[in-house]
Amino acid sequence: MKFFVDTADLQEIQDLAATGLLDGVTTNPSLVAKTGRPFLDLVAEICEVVEGPVSAEVTATDFETMLAEGQKLAKISPKIAVKVPLTPAGLKVCKQLSADGTMVNVTLCFSAAQAILAAKAGAAFISPFVGRLDDVGTDGMGLIADICQIYSRYPSFTTEVLVASVRHPMHLIASAKLGAHVATMPPNVIRLLFGHPLTDKGLAQFMADWQKTGQTILS
Ligand code: G3P
Repeated sequence: MKFFVDTADLQEIQDLAATGLLDGVTTNPSLVAKTGRPFLDLVAEICEVVEGPVSAEVTATDFETMLAEGQKLAKISPKIAVKVPLTPAGLKVCKQLSADGTMVNVTLCFSAAQAILAAKAGAAFISPFVGRLDDVGTDGMGLIADICQIYSRYPSFTTEVLVASVRHPMHLIASAKLGAHVATMPPNVIRLLFGHPLTDKGLAQFMADWQKTGQTILS
């Protein structure tokens, strides 16, 4: 399972990349706006920090402008996955960019039917938003289960399920149980994955007992 971080904060990306466990980055216009940075420069810098795909979203809604924006974003680096909204025009852009060899991440997916359309349009990634579905009293993880099941029935669908709008570690664990290919998580959720009070307690005990031996491994 791949881990992406859902942020445009370069410092956070650098810190998490240093763990060696980060496979990519997703951004969106809201996350970019928070940084106050020029978008194209920021995306280029992110591409230098991580090995894997970096999602950069178009900001128009009509086909021609989205396509031109996507082509410009794709030129920044082969790591770019152009992010397009799940609309008829967005899917048309997806089909064209994918045919040209550009990775496309279709975002704002809230139904299995939309996910089928994205796969047919050749998307590299489909981004169902589990947290936002939960927020409106719908079963976000149920959607992930449906999409994983449907995609598994069609070997010609190569689209990866990228679980987005992840709010807590339970979303990640449930996604992994379902076999989702990728989860994109805010930095705080990734950090929560590492921790357990029994790990801290056990380590403190081991260190205290080791001190009593008076030994060192090195020297
Ligand atoms: O990047 C898309 C998605 O992960 C947004 O998450 O928390 O704004 O619903 P959230």
